[in-house]
Amino acid sequence: MSDRVFIFDTTLRDGEQALAASLTVKEKLQIAMALERLGVDIMEVGFPVSSPGDFESVQTIARTIKNSRVCALSRALEKDIDAAAQALSVADQFRIHTFISTSNIHVQSKLKRSFDQVLEMAVGAVKYARRFTDDVEFSCEDAGRTPIDNLCRMVEAAIEAGARTINIPDTVGYTIPSEFGGIIQTLFNRVPNIDQAVISVHCHDDLGLSVANSIMAVQQGARQIECTINGIGERAGNCSLEEIAMILATRKDILGLETGIKAQEIHRTSSMVSQLCNMPIQANKAIVGANAFTHSSGIHQDGMLKAQNTYEIMTPESIGLNRNHLNMTSRSGRHVIKHRMEQMGYSEQDYSLDQLYDAFLKLADKKGQVFDYDLEALVYMEGRAAADDHFQLQQLVVQSDSTEGMATATVRIEAAGEVVTEAATGNGPVDAAYKAIARASGQSVDICSYKLSAKGEGQNALGQVDITAQYQGRNFHGVGLATDVVEASAAALVHVMNLIQRADQVADHKQKIQQRKELGGV
Ligand code: KIV
Ligand code: ZN
Repeated sequence: MSDRVFIFDTTLRDGEQALAASLTVKEKLQIAMALERLGVDIMEVGFPVSSPGDFESVQTIARTIKNSRVCALSRALEKDIDAAAQALSVADQFRIHTFISTSNIHVQSKLKRSFDQVLEMAVGAVKYARRFTDDVEFSCEDAGRTPIDNLCRMVEAAIEAGARTINIPDTVGYTIPSEFGGIIQTLFNRVPNIDQAVISVHCHDDLGLSVANSIMAVQQGARQIECTINGIGERAGNCSLEEIAMILATRKDILGLETGIKAQEIHRTSSMVSQLCNMPIQANKAIVGANAFTHSSGIHQDGMLKAQNTYEIMTPESIGLNRNHLNMTSRSGRHVIKHRMEQMGYSEQDYSLDQLYDAFLKLADKKGQVFDYDLEALVYMEGRAAADDHFQLQQLVVQSDSTEGMATATVRIEAAGEVVTEAATGNGPVDAAYKAIARASGQSVDICSYKLSAKGEGQNALGQVDITAQYQGRNFHGVGLATDVVEASAAALVHVMNLIQRADQVADHKQKIQQRKELGGV
C-alpha cells in the first residue's frame, strides 16, 4: 500500500457553510490560491446547486487553480450533479463528490426511504457523475453510525458503479478512535473490490476526536483525509489540516506516511482563513494558536535557551512562523519592502507593490516603526478593498468626553464622486462615528457583532475591528485596520456598506437580465 496520504481540503465547502457571513467570490479565490500554494491535493470549493453565488465561485476557482484538483459537492440527485459538472467543466481536471446518508437515523428520519432505495440512488448518482469525469468520489453520510453490514454493501456497490474515492464520514463526530479505526479495518477486510478505490475519511470534531480518528483511519489503510484550515466547519468543526499535516510530518518515525503539504505555508494560510472568515483562533490551539510556540514558565524558558528541543517538538519556522520581526521605518525603500515580502513567502502576484508601498508609508508616518505582521495586515486589507468602492471615508474627526459618556463625530464621505459631510452625537466615539456615517451615506445597517482586536504586538499593535451586519436577511462582514480604533471601527462600517452596495448592484443587474428575458430580449 502506498505511503502517500492525499489531503482533501474542504475549507471552502464544509468550512464556509458554517460561517456567519458568506465569503465573496474574490475572498474564496484568495483562499483557494493559498490552498494551492500550501499543496493540498484536492480542494472542495462549494456546492454549486445551492446558490448562483456558489456556482460562480466554484467556476472562478476551477478556472484559476492548476496544481490542485478542484472538486464540488452534489447530493445524489441528477440536478445537483449537472450543476457541479457545469461549474467545474472549465477546469482541466476535476472531481465530482456525490453523497447520500447511510445510517438508520438518517435513512428513516431524513430521507424517509428504505436502505435498498438509498443504495439504488447512490449507484445511480455515481454512474451519472461518471458521465462527466472519471474522478468521482462517493460519501456515505453518517457512516460512523451506519450498521457495518449496510456500510460494506454501500461501499461495494458505489465502487462497482465507478466511484474512485469512497469517503467514510463521521458526520456527527460520534465515534472514538478504536471504533472508527475498526470500521476502516472491517471495510478493508470485507469489501471485495476495496482495492479499486482510495478510502477517505471526513471526521467532525463534536467530541474533539476528529484528528485522532483520522490518524487511526490512515493507520488502518485510509489514504485520503478530508480536513479544513483551522478545523473550521459545521458545529464544532472538521479535522484540522495543520494538525494532520504536522502529525504526519513530526511522527513519520511511527506512521511512515507522507503528504504533499508545504508546511511552511501553514501559518500564513491559517491567518488568512481566520481573517477572511472572521473566525479567531484560540490562543492554545495546536500548531497555529498564538501560544503554540510561546514558553512562559522560567523552567521552560531556561530549557529553551539551552536547547530548543527541550520543549519544542517542531520549530515555528517549520510552519512558516518567523520569530524575527524586522522593523521598517518611513526611510525604508521599496526594495526593502519587496525583500521582506519575499522572505515572508509572498510573490509579486500576491499583492501590488505600488499600493503596498503607499499604504506602508502612511502607516510608517503614523506609527514610526512598521513590522512584518503590519505588512501582512496591509496586504490583507488591500485584498479586501476594491478600486470601484462606492463609499470612501475621506475624513473622520471625533471629540469625546468619557466622563459624561458623550461624543461628537464629523465625517466626510465620498459616494460615487459626491462629497457629503455630516455630524452626529453618540454615547461614545464609535457610536457617534457610526451615526454620522449612516447620515452621510443615507444607509443604515443592523450591527450584529463588533469585535476589536490587536493586530501585532504590544503597544505597536494596530487596532482591527471586525463587524457583522445584517441587511435584508443577509450577513456581511466588514473589517477596518488602523492605528486608531475609532478610525478602524469607521473603516469596518464603510467596508460593510460597500459590500452591501455591490450586492445590491448584482441583484439589480440580475433583475434586469430577468426582465429582459421575460420581455423576450436576449
Ligand atoms: O460531514 C459530512 O458527512 C459531510 C459530507 C457531505 C461528506 O460533510
Ligand atoms: Zn462534513
